[in-house]
Amino acid sequence: MFLDNIADWVILGFAALAAFGLISIVIMYVQDVTQTAHAIRRNYPVIGRMRYRFERLGEYFRQYFFAADREEQPFNRAGRAWVYRTAKGLGGLVGFGSTNDMNSNGSVIFVNASFPLLEEEKTDRPHMVIGPGCEHPYENPSIFNISGMSFGAISKPAVRSLSKGAAEAKVWLNTGEGGMSPYHEEFGPDIIYQVGTAKYGIRDQDGKLDPNKVRDIGKRVKAFEIKLSQGAKPGRGGVLPGNKVTSEIAAIRGIPQGQVSSSPNRHREISDCDELLSMIHYIRELTGRPVGFKAVVGSEEFPHELCETIHRRGLDYAPDFITIDGGEGGTGAAPQVLSDNVGLSLKESLPIMVDTLNMYDLRKQIKIIASGKLITSGNVAWALCMGADFAVSARGFMFALGCIQSLQCHRDTCPTGITTHNKRFQKGLVVEDKGKRVANYAHWVNHEINVIAHSCGLRNASEFSRKHVRIVQKPGFSVSLEKLYPEYAASRLAKESNKRQA
Ligand SMILES: Cc1cc2nc3c(=O)[nH]c(=O)nc-3n(C[C@H](O)[C@H](O)[C@H](O)COP(=O)(O)O)c2cc1C
Repeated sequence: MFLDNIADWVILGFAALAAFGLISIVIMYVQDVTQTAHAIRRNYPVIGRMRYRFERLGEYFRQYFFAADREEQPFNRAGRAWVYRTAKGLGGLVGFGSTNDMNSNGSVIFVNASFPLLEEEKTDRPHMVIGPGCEHPYENPSIFNISGMSFGAISKPAVRSLSKGAAEAKVWLNTGEGGMSPYHEEFGPDIIYQVGTAKYGIRDQDGKLDPNKVRDIGKRVKAFEIKLSQGAKPGRGGVLPGNKVTSEIAAIRGIPQGQVSSSPNRHREISDCDELLSMIHYIRELTGRPVGFKAVVGSEEFPHELCETIHRRGLDYAPDFITIDGGEGGTGAAPQVLSDNVGLSLKESLPIMVDTLNMYDLRKQIKIIASGKLITSGNVAWALCMGADFAVSARGFMFALGCIQSLQCHRDTCPTGITTHNKRFQKGLVVEDKGKRVANYAHWVNHEINVIAHSCGLRNASEFSRKHVRIVQKPGFSVSLEKLYPEYAASRLAKESNKRQA
């Protein structure tokens, strides 16, 4: 009899499935032709739905199957793979040859020395001191350090891993604008406290700077960074979506749980360079720590105004450092238009800031920290040649933590547990292991910067200058950075300054 044996059951199962599939297709067909929101679904019922699915999946699969090594944005596979390898302690070696097209416009080529120094002639870069005139100057051994990422934008195990790695590699850890959590301090790294526009962690009930809290924090950190803007969203304050504001984060920030955490677009007390210098001076006097600021540069105007104001107010008011964040910088969440189109890229803003400080004879006093897609030793060495003293990275260290660039930092769904507070995903982030990777990565970037310096015939990275880099203009034709930038920038700035004085 029918249904007596397994084959009959299988046939029946398939028939039921086919009937179910057919009914579903009919329902989808009716839905598609009657809906009015999507033209593709209306014109190509059922099958048109595949487009949306593929569009979404393409985001994830491109990096595995289709994109070439040097193709993806924001970071290509070659750069990411370099970070992954060095973070795992596997070193930076490649075989056969480079996949980098050295002839493409904008390529960076370091100028090798015909007769590089012998091993015994090489030295380490002398430690840099930030704020040498402060009561508590900050002496730092590392060129490459960890950029601000707030606890909130990134998770507890991510902050703990960064704290562990930073302590081990002796690099500084910037808190980001979300205040300081116990996890930042857990392993005892050098910490730079970021004063965001909402002043999380150091504000009074009216949202103003609380001097007692600032003084207390000053005993636990090495320096303060006042955040004016960040590359991914100039002119817009920080945003932490409500689904990421857990009870713990709400308590640290002093805000309600579950509601969007929005910082003002600027500090209420800082509406011009005068007020910026007053705030810098105030925090330095309160804490004895070096104080600098982080900003995106939009044109030459701001650096000029800043330097003129410093000279008018006196050197006591000068920042101890300036972090220049390029328009290409990353973020936990930002409007795409600000990320895509606002703020100069680091390639343009860094020489403007360096040259302007030089022009006003302020370069020695004010250290420059470069930021914006500097994730490999080559990128950082370029920034040093351009005139930076230090470099920081956020996303480079996220890759060291295992980030796969799934572009979901603004949701609470990061599959690697770095930018989510969902415990299920955080399980993958094991602090012991990831802390080690953070330390390895920082170590390798610092190490290879010196490898490049040695190849250029220098004793160490402190001797880099613009003549050590050439930039490809077109295939087979490169020009020294020394020719390309200083003359252009300095002469233009000098002209503008003369015009102002006239
Ligand atoms: C997840 C995430 C969170 C961030 N949070 C902050 C922040 O709190 N404050 C800040 O000034 N910048 C923040 N940034 C920007 C970085 O500090 C850095 O300026 C920018 O990403 C450029 O460096 P990168 O290209 O190496 O990532 C954040 C970036 C990311 C990716």
